[in-house]
Amino acid sequence: MKLEDVKSITILGSGAMGHGIAQVCIDAGFDVIMRDIKQEFIDNGVAKIKDSFAFLVGKGKKSQADMDAAMARLTTTTDLKEALKGAKLVIEAVPEIMELKKSVFKEVSDLVDDDVIIATNTSTMSISEIATVVKNPARFVGMHFFNPVNRMKLVEVIYGEKTSDETVDILCEVSKKYNKVPVKVLKDRPGFIVNRISAPNQAFISAMLDSGTIVPDEVDTTMKAMGQKMGPFEIADFVGIDVFSHTLEYYSETLSKEFKPGKYLTDKMNKKELGMKTGKGIYTWVNGKAVIDGSKTSAGIGPMEFAAIQINEAVRVFKEGIAQSTKDIDDAVKFGMNAFIGPFELAASMDPKQLTDTLNNLSTKFGLDILKPEPEVVDGSFKTMGK
Ligand SMILES: NC(=O)c1ccc[n+]([C@@H]2O[C@H](COP(=O)([O-])OP(=O)(O)OC[C@H]3O[C@@H](n4cnc5c(N)ncnc54)[C@H](O)[C@@H]3O)[C@@H](O)[C@H]2O)c1
Repeated sequence: MKLEDVKSITILGSGAMGHGIAQVCIDAGFDVIMRDIKQEFIDNGVAKIKDSFAFLVGKGKKSQADMDAAMARLTTTTDLKEALKGAKLVIEAVPEIMELKKSVFKEVSDLVDDDVIIATNTSTMSISEIATVVKNPARFVGMHFFNPVNRMKLVEVIYGEKTSDETVDILCEVSKKYNKVPVKVLKDRPGFIVNRISAPNQAFISAMLDSGTIVPDEVDTTMKAMGQKMGPFEIADFVGIDVFSHTLEYYSETLSKEFKPGKYLTDKMNKKELGMKTGKGIYTWVNGKAVIDGSKTSAGIGPMEFAAIQINEAVRVFKEGIAQSTKDIDDAVKFGMNAFIGPFELAASMDPKQLTDTLNNLSTKFGLDILKPEPEVVDGSFKTMGK
């Protein structure tokens, strides 16, 4: 199959991700059939696509004629058979429940020809495991978009154990056609590339909250003074303490027990103080804004600490063979996290001893072995990794 063969794309689910994927596909000239289980969910997704296009028309970034032409490429249905008619590529964005995904893929796989590519937008699940229910696992692949899909450039294209190179290559071509940056993920390890690289910093945040000696306001004020839009604790509240804790829980089951959410987060969960959405989390939230005391900065925790942890994990990701190159890891972080610079690019000008000392200090202070420096960080050889 070639890129030219992919004319029509079927999208399963019209929620936060499904409608966003549909939007970028129709905008790039693909015909799309979007399927959901209830008409009201579809109507909601279509309304969001229209709103987003209308916003772009209002800003002069898109013409009304282009918007109308894109909308004309979108068909919707609640009927799965109809949704799969003529599809060469099916992208799934249904809720993150393994049994649901498996039942959807079994049904889809029974209804389509063997050469149709079936992709899942799962953020956490094993591609190889979901692939056990499809007829042709060589054509089954992960296609991990980032939220909001119309603004985030990265797409992680993830191999399951049996995914063919051809399948991954076509999806990279498709992603480029709708102006995304595809990065190949060679192994379906937890968190793939981007989320995995953020994982130890999440554990670090949990440990700081438990320490009782770190003031979130001070750390966030420091990070914002260095140009970040939001501080790390503020982001945790913004994402939701429940989502943040579930992610840590998942990594504690799949990567290391040290990721387990600490007492502070668990107490917040029990009290249903879940961050912005409940008006209280690490911070109190008023009118969509965290009330942060910005009068003091943090003496001990700042960009160096977060960067060192991220660089160390990027080294692990490369060593585990999850990414093809250090450039791919840098691209993934830049385009999946809207970062100015990737971890290897950043590390190129850093002193290995400073990184090593920072990581050793943090590991000892917060009792986390996952923060210990990798040998390649200690001896500085991370600077030439993959070269
Ligand atoms: N929201 C994010 O930030 C984000 C980011 C990356 C990946 N993801 C992943 O994308 C997937 C979807 O997440 P979401 O946030 O869009 O969820 P969502 O709950 O907003 O939307 C899921 C939609 O799927 C529909 N649905 C349920 N069963 C279906 C079926 N059998 N066929 C078709 N549609 C069905 C639901 O009615 C709902 O409209 C999940 O796997 C999630 O992990 C989410």
